[in-house]
Amino acid sequence: MPVLAFALQYFGEKRKKYSKKLQESFSHYIQHLSQIVSGIEVVKLFREKIFFRYFNRINSDLLKRQKKNRFYETVYLSSVEIVAYTATAGIIFYGGVRIIKGEITAGDFFSFLGGVLILVNSLQTLQRGAINLKALTPVVDRIKYVLNLPVEEDKGKEFEGLKESITYRDVSVKMGENLLLENINLKLKKGEKIGIVGATGSGKSTLVKILPALITEYSGEVLIDGVELREYSVFL
Ligand SMILES: Nc1ncnc2c1ncn2[C@@H]1O[C@H](COP(=O)(O)OP(=O)(O)O)[C@@H](O)[C@H]1O
Ligand SMILES: [Mg+2]
Repeated sequence: MPVLAFALQYFGEKRKKYSKKLQESFSHYIQHLSQIVSGIEVVKLFREKIFFRYFNRINSDLLKRQKKNRFYETVYLSSVEIVAYTATAGIIFYGGVRIIKGEITAGDFFSFLGGVLILVNSLQTLQRGAINLKALTPVVDRIKYVLNLPVEEDKGKEFEGLKESITYRDVSVKMGENLLLENINLKLKKGEKIGIVGATGSGKSTLVKILPALITEYSGEVLIDGVELREYSVFL
């Protein structure tokens, strides 16, 4: 049992470590794959080779980590078998000697051996469970991590549709050093259609992106029926 406990400790840690790495590789792999699929036009426009060279690297990483995982699992499980059966062989030898010496009867010995074999079986099941549990810890940690990611704060009031007008008052948007919009003043009545004209990069999209809260860092005021945009909930 001490040998088995040591094996569990040693290989359990290894499994934990590589199971975590495997998780990371796998998420990397899925991420890249979904990026290739969703961005297939971009992939085709540029040189496909670049994307696939990177993909190949991720893939071989994944393979390496899979192998490590399997390796430690297999070595561990076989070491448990070897220890268990060596111990059983030792017991049979020792018992046999005592039967020959006449210290115990064959019946005594075989009922003892029967017990030992049942114990060995249960121990193996226990060990297999324990090592799988170790390998699963990083998975659970990862799930917990994702579940505990901060949620977008939302204390605002519900938006119930535009009634009268949207007003931009001295709206400026600054990103880093760049001033994307500067002191924009605008009044739009409900149902009114306007055109926004400007060179590429002049800030047309930025102006519009403020409304659905895709951009939240602006100065000045955006009033929806007189209520500042930031006071609304971002969820519909
Ligand atoms: N997320 C961002 N971070 C920094 N700069 C940005 C960002 N989005 C757009 N810009 C810059 O802001 C400017 C205005 O962009 P945009 O509103 O998309 O222009 P338009 O729609 O008029 O072509 C551009 O110079 C662009 O490079
Ligand atoms: Mg645009």
